[in-house]
Amino acid sequence: MLPPIDIFQARHGAIRYFLAPMAGITDVAFRLLMREMGAQAVVSELVSAEGLVRGGQKTRELMAFSAEESPVGIQIFGHKVESLVEAARIVQGEGADFVDINFGCPVKKVVCDGGGAAWLRDPVVLGKLLQDLRGALRIPLSIKVRTGWDESSRNVAEIVRVAGDCGVNWIAIHGRTRAQGYSGLADWELIREVSQEAKIPVVGNGDILTAAQAKRRIKEGYAHAVMIGRGALKTPWIFSEIHGHSVERDILSVIHRHFDLALNWKGRTRAFLSLKKFIGWYAAGYPHSSQFRSSIFQTDDVDHLRAITVDYFQSIAEYTKIDDGQPFLMGGHG
Ligand SMILES: Cc1cc2nc3c(=O)[nH]c(=O)nc-3n(C[C@H](O)[C@H](O)[C@H](O)COP(=O)(O)O)c2cc1C
Repeated sequence: MLPPIDIFQARHGAIRYFLAPMAGITDVAFRLLMREMGAQAVVSELVSAEGLVRGGQKTRELMAFSAEESPVGIQIFGHKVESLVEAARIVQGEGADFVDINFGCPVKKVVCDGGGAAWLRDPVVLGKLLQDLRGALRIPLSIKVRTGWDESSRNVAEIVRVAGDCGVNWIAIHGRTRAQGYSGLADWELIREVSQEAKIPVVGNGDILTAAQAKRRIKEGYAHAVMIGRGALKTPWIFSEIHGHSVERDILSVIHRHFDLALNWKGRTRAFLSLKKFIGWYAAGYPHSSQFRSSIFQTDDVDHLRAITVDYFQSIAEYTKIDDGQPFLMGGHG
């Protein structure tokens, strides 16, 4: 086994299990929920460095976080060194525990501008940016990358070396190239090779859907820590299970908690829109979930949504969730 991430050891213990950043999903409410369920560190969705520097209200809302989530990182993306450095300073000033830089986003609009995974194409330029960021920050700096731009340039080992030399505190690797998008499987053998050589901790990421898979990746030395994204939507109790508790039988209390957190942090309208998505994911794999999902999309009020959700989950209380193995959310910003 490789050692865990210990930079927050004194306040929060060692870190093995992260919630992965997901745009439109890992907002403050879901991150708090996952922290309460056992995720040991959380990261915001990607936030535009340009937007932060301009001080846009929407961008500010995207980076809202609570001290109770700690350790929490804010992820920024962009293509201009000065904006990224300035945005990182803003994030630090707001009191986040760490700054994470997105070098994994495969989305055309982002990479065409030179942001996200486009940075992986030139490790020297990337290194200069990292040095500037490191020099500007007192708090930990992490990065999240793909294994490379495409099959013929899988340079993640070099990126890890550069990151280590520039004082990056850890690196999360989504085990696919930018060109792969979300197709195929994450290359965990490459993650393992790189982790074994790395001077800084590596957080492995990609396709972890069960607590057993997460624990196996750690036990067998694939990485110092792992990051779980889509698996936490399908199985919101995945982090509890990692720690030896399953709350599946009590899914309704998880859902009530999610409603309360979303209402508290987002207000009724935004909470309603976001909860509709989550409830649909939570219901997948239970009997009659497609009829239930259609009824969700006919509601127009958060209290009614809560009421029909309670009815549905009470009606299937004796069933265990079955993973249909269907591809799920095959697109995102990292
Ligand atoms: C809907 C969606 C949104 C995502 N948004 C981000 C993001 O904002 N920043 C990022 O670094 N990765 C983002 N990702 C990538 C995930 O963090 C993760 O690397 C990827 O989903 C693979 O891990 P998983 O199989 O555990 O989901 C996103 C993924 C999805 C599915």
